[in-house]
Amino acid sequence: MTRATYLRMLAAMIVLTVVISVVMLQFDWNGTAGSTEADEIDTLTDVMIVVSSFVYSIVLVMLGYSIWRFRAKPGDESDGDAVHGNTRLEIAWTLIPTVIVLVAAAYSWVILDRIEAREPDRLNVNVTAQQFAWQFEYPEQGVTSTELHVPVDRQTEFSMQAIDVIHSFWVPEWRVKKDLVPGQTTHVTATPNLEGSFALVCTELCGIGHSTMRAPVVVESQEDFDAWVADQEKDEGSEAGGGAVEDPAEEADAGEALFAEQGCSGCHTLSAAGSTADIGPALDEVLPGQSPADIETSIIDPDSELSEGFGQGIMPDNFGDSLDEEQLQSLVDYLVASTEGQGAK
Ligand code: CUA
Repeated sequence: MTRATYLRMLAAMIVLTVVISVVMLQFDWNGTAGSTEADEIDTLTDVMIVVSSFVYSIVLVMLGYSIWRFRAKPGDESDGDAVHGNTRLEIAWTLIPTVIVLVAAAYSWVILDRIEAREPDRLNVNVTAQQFAWQFEYPEQGVTSTELHVPVDRQTEFSMQAIDVIHSFWVPEWRVKKDLVPGQTTHVTATPNLEGSFALVCTELCGIGHSTMRAPVVVESQEDFDAWVADQEKDEGSEAGGGAVEDPAEEADAGEALFAEQGCSGCHTLSAAGSTADIGPALDEVLPGQSPADIETSIIDPDSELSEGFGQGIMPDNFGDSLDEEQLQSLVDYLVASTEGQGAK
């Protein structure tokens, strides 16, 4: 190969790299960015796209050159020349990819290190996942919620536990993602920089209700966050301070909260709760006419009697262990109250 051919191939590779990169960078691969981590990760993605375009261009140009330069002449039926090793070429094609991969790895390492650095003024949130619901506990504020509220422009550290199987924490706009593994506490941090409503998505196949395992995420100003915390505290205070929980309105509230917290709304349609999932039977249809005892049995021993069209083992059978007597009672009362006088035929 002459020097001119080398230069022409190099030029072709550079032109192709530019063309492919420009086209690939037009796509909005990750959607809206809503955290400082997202900006860093998106830049990393762009750099990787350009590097990959360069590697792809090398392959394309070499392939094109070989097809054109070494094509068989018409009527040539002979075998090709036997090819022996080419030490210089082999060293080159080992060394160059090694350098590219190492540079990419080093750059990724730097970004990861920056993303995972803890800020002293960060907010701590404990996340608990179970089939098929999320729960958020704010240890410093003494608040628990099924909605994730976080202040904007401040780092939040999520310390996460799974009760049953592996789940995965992902708010697409924040980019960061981390598994929750039973028996371990895993951590992930995010610094949201875009206010608004988002969704926390479970991104590890965790059972039949996996696709419904979402939680609302609200990113708001520190003042709005503080106001929300104060509001939650008031609610929890009234629940705890109410003495005997004989007030039916309060008990219904507790049942309604449990219905969301325990993931019931992830699988069942219940118009009173505004849930529309169809993993399990629609409660508006199957509950009317059932006694509280029947409903309780269906919660703690779901396979004992199955609704038509639903198989064994779809509903988790551990609610008898995870709910205490009082919670179970609130949940049953709530279900009775919210389906009373409906659809019974
Ligand atoms: Cu939890 Cu998928």
